[in-house]
Amino acid sequence: MELTLNSPLDMHLHLRDGEMLKNIAKFSAQEFAGALVMPNLVPPITNIESLLSYKKRILDAANDNDFKPYMTLFFKSDYTADFLEKAKPHIAAIKLYPNGVTTNSEGGVEQIDTKKLALIFEAMSELDIPLCVHGETNGFVMDREKEFGVIYEQLATSFPKLTIIMEHITTQASTELLERYENLYATITLHHLLITLDDVVGGLLNPHLFCKPIAKRYEDREALLKLALNANKKVMFGSDSAPHTIDKKECCGCAAGVFSAPIALSALAELFEKHNKLTNLQAFVSNNAKNMYKLTPSKKKITLEKKEWIVPSSYDDVVPMFANQTLKWKVKSKI
Ligand code: NCD
Ligand code: ZN
Repeated sequence: MELTLNSPLDMHLHLRDGEMLKNIAKFSAQEFAGALVMPNLVPPITNIESLLSYKKRILDAANDNDFKPYMTLFFKSDYTADFLEKAKPHIAAIKLYPNGVTTNSEGGVEQIDTKKLALIFEAMSELDIPLCVHGETNGFVMDREKEFGVIYEQLATSFPKLTIIMEHITTQASTELLERYENLYATITLHHLLITLDDVVGGLLNPHLFCKPIAKRYEDREALLKLALNANKKVMFGSDSAPHTIDKKECCGCAAGVFSAPIALSALAELFEKHNKLTNLQAFVSNNAKNMYKLTPSKKKITLEKKEWIVPSSYDDVVPMFANQTLKWKVKSKI
């Protein structure tokens, strides 16, 4: 049995830089026609020059003409309309991080005051630049995303022409918000469709499943699954694959992030098949994103076959999701 996906897209990806970039870019390039690349490097990508040189390093590392990195800038409250106009041809979106809520988000926005930031959001609306948001407060860890809901509502109502993407949603409450406001969209990760907090801390602690936002309750996962499996037009696949070296994960003070790039399509095929929804995978991993971001990716076709394989225990010094476990679908070829 085989499954062919046309131009799969990963709309939330951390590719890092330096040696890590050189080691991991190929995993996304092998399976995807393009990816929305997150700007949370150290220092973050906040100007066109560093964005273009980062893009070049990504293209070199990916070494695949059919893989397009869709670049993002790290939101700064001093961006001007003039700067945004100059940046527009080079970017697919701008990513807003509240200060300090996740890996490398220092330098993010201290306070998301929609009135003070109105000029930027208005310029982005005019220029049709989507705003991607890491929607968490710094409250109690299980409530952070829910508490951020009021900010999503303020953004959605104050800037009705702004395309707002709620990144890596994890709660039922977020799925309800999404339905309520026309200009809200969302990405959903693989891991949040598969795990709950129980998998992270309910038994023996699993640092490789520790990420921001943390996985939530069973009913939250159900709500996410419903959107993804039915290929709701407002949701897109965004792996949030976020590699950290093994010493940063298996230690006291474990870094947040799940590395899923090498197994993403295999595990998605298994999940969609299990729920008898394989025919909806194409929309979830490509069509919805193409429509929403108005993208024309390469015509890359990825064929998966129903063939068991064991996920390696690590790729260089990064441990992937499903390490040492068997997956039922394997990427066979790309053209
Ligand atoms: C991401 C990272 O490591 O860059 N970590 C994570 O847990 N998801 C940052 C992010 O997307 O929050
Ligand atoms: Zn991320």
